[in-house]
Amino acid sequence: MITVRVPLGDRSYDVLVGHGARNELAALLPRTARRAAVVTQAGIPMQVDPGVPFETFEIGDGERFKSLATIETLCRGFARMGLTRNDVIVGVGGGMVTDVAGFAASAWHRGVPVVHVSTTLLGMVDAAIGGKTGVNLEAVDGVGGKNLIGAYWQPSGVVCDLDALVTLSPREVRCGRGEMAKYHFLTGDDLLAMSEAERIARCVQIKAEVVAGDEREDGRRALLNYGHTLAHALEIETDYALAHGEAVGVGLVYAARLARRLGRIDDARVQQHYDVVRGAYELDTALPGGIDAQQLVRLMGLDKKVLDGGLTFVLDSERGVEVVQGVDPAAALAALGDMR
Ligand code: GLY
Repeated sequence: MITVRVPLGDRSYDVLVGHGARNELAALLPRTARRAAVVTQAGIPMQVDPGVPFETFEIGDGERFKSLATIETLCRGFARMGLTRNDVIVGVGGGMVTDVAGFAASAWHRGVPVVHVSTTLLGMVDAAIGGKTGVNLEAVDGVGGKNLIGAYWQPSGVVCDLDALVTLSPREVRCGRGEMAKYHFLTGDDLLAMSEAERIARCVQIKAEVVAGDEREDGRRALLNYGHTLAHALEIETDYALAHGEAVGVGLVYAARLARRLGRIDDARVQQHYDVVRGAYELDTALPGGIDAQQLVRLMGLDKKVLDGGLTFVLDSERGVEVVQGVDPAAALAALGDMR
């Protein structure tokens, strides 16, 4: 078992990575927890024993269930159960489950402890770590977006049981690989040369270091969104037919193309992005067909990173990746054309 500490003062916590890590769940619960509300989905291939009496709440599968309506349903269940701050919520599932369970925990009684048991690669290397929680704002009249409503709410511990990975579909594996490819560009680490446990623990460690230095994304944490500006727009525009990690793969090479357009990197570095994303991580790098590029640029302008009303991206340079504000929409559009 590998333990990675997320160092956040009195809110520090451990992430356990290894086969059978679920058996350590009870040890991660706050000592005050008398009961647990286990939030999960039907078909999640992991039974957990929190070591205290518990009730299980299943949420729907699919982005449309990542909603305020789901939070309300959960809170009605917590009310029936009489869940208090001396209890704990346990999120068991992929990124959607831990985002929703974490947000419900942040809001119920103005904050109850939460522990995550991550069952997907993407969840283990990204979503379950770092305290970002939230749900989508359903689009009405074309206005809405992914993860627009949420809170920073750190878990008390995270379990990454590698036994769960054998049940993942090829698509879920691709999704995790999209986030891993991102870490490749943040650190230059050859993650694929490591064992599975080391690789996942290293991703957790990279994320833990970034989060410890900038928990609320006032600066460096935004770099974890490398490749995500286009990815979020693609997810929305394809009505989530393109899953998050798959969209991040496309978003990473798009970010390289845009950086090239802006004179920040050379052709060789763009090629490196293709070599890593398509070659090493075996992800699709093509823009899905039938997508309106102008609409993608408009959606990218609604991204949460936008600080000044202009387009904001995380872009590569000789100094490494940086947040770049005020990107010319014509350049963003032209870089989409370069992808065709
Ligand atoms: N997924 C990016 C972050 O947690 O900041």
